Amino acid sequence: MGTEEVQRIISARPRGEEAGMEEHLRPRRLTEYIGQERVKEQLEIFIRAARERDEPLDHVLLYGPPGLGKTTLAHCIANELGVGMRVTSGPAIERPGDLAAILTNLSEKDVLFIDEIHRLNHAVEEILYPAMEDYALDIVIGKGPGARALRLDLPRFTLVGATTRAGMLASPLRDRFGVVNRLDFYGGREMEQIVARGARILEVTVEPAAIQELARRARGTPRVANRLLKRSRDYAQVRSDGRLSAEVAREALTLLQVDELGLDEVDRRIMTVLIEKFGGGPVGLDTLAAVVAEEPETLEDVCEPYLLQIGFLQRTPRGRCVTTAARSHLGYPGP
Ligand code: ADE
Repeated sequence: MGTEEVQRIISARPRGEEAGMEEHLRPRRLTEYIGQERVKEQLEIFIRAARERDEPLDHVLLYGPPGLGKTTLAHCIANELGVGMRVTSGPAIERPGDLAAILTNLSEKDVLFIDEIHRLNHAVEEILYPAMEDYALDIVIGKGPGARALRLDLPRFTLVGATTRAGMLASPLRDRFGVVNRLDFYGGREMEQIVARGARILEVTVEPAAIQELARRARGTPRVANRLLKRSRDYAQVRSDGRLSAEVAREALTLLQVDELGLDEVDRRIMTVLIEKFGGGPVGLDTLAAVVAEEPETLEDVCEPYLLQIGFLQRTPRGRCVTTAARSHLGYPGP
């Protein structure tokens, strides 16, 4: 990850200080969870059916851009099921033995949440297949001709996997999820509800127009909304009387260099580079990443989804191009 990305105010990745805050603002039940109605409706049905049959819920894959609430949803699933949840991530599970230890320590019907599941290594993935399919752990004892295969029973569990890139999962892994859901950017009304809820929990007095302003600039991403809300609250406390008016919110957002559409320095740099150095594109992802000094993966998973969504960027077989809308937003004449 580029250092730039770590400092972005609109970064959809969680940052260290936020662990506590995210816990605090996170809905715990599906009924509190705002938006993603289609996903919630499906999950409610499958959870209820599993509970009525006294079975574990089938494995669930959640995918979509960062910051949209995949981890939150996993917590809600575990709470609705009334079971425990173990949280880990693809890069954290280095060896097959690490995963074996996690699996054998689960209780019946528990949720195992694996974030960034596309980053599991192959040896670990191999352990996961029989675990998901048959709730079994295949281990080999000894080496050479005397080696013996042994199959151990595991507790019946639910794997909830999260990824920004469903396309990067090996198909044997993807095929083992009985429920696959994509999370989309949130709509304007939903974002306003999320900001209003955050303000209530943080006990900030906030004008309706300030709620709209924050919601509009949070790029359809709850994690960004909650972060902008917290920073605006700080600004209101130090520069004003603690109340968040629309004017104070706008001042805070200007200070944070988040523009009318929620774009920040990095977004603007990506598009400026495309226009000024590459004549608007097309340019390949790796080249673009090198010029703006970001990792290609950060560009693709974190920056691009929103720029594509608002129609500022296009992906073509020959690379990325800026659109007329992006040019006019940045004050460039048409192509
Ligand atoms: N939906 C997604 N994220 C949410 C949040 N932080 N609060 C309420 N609803 C949400």
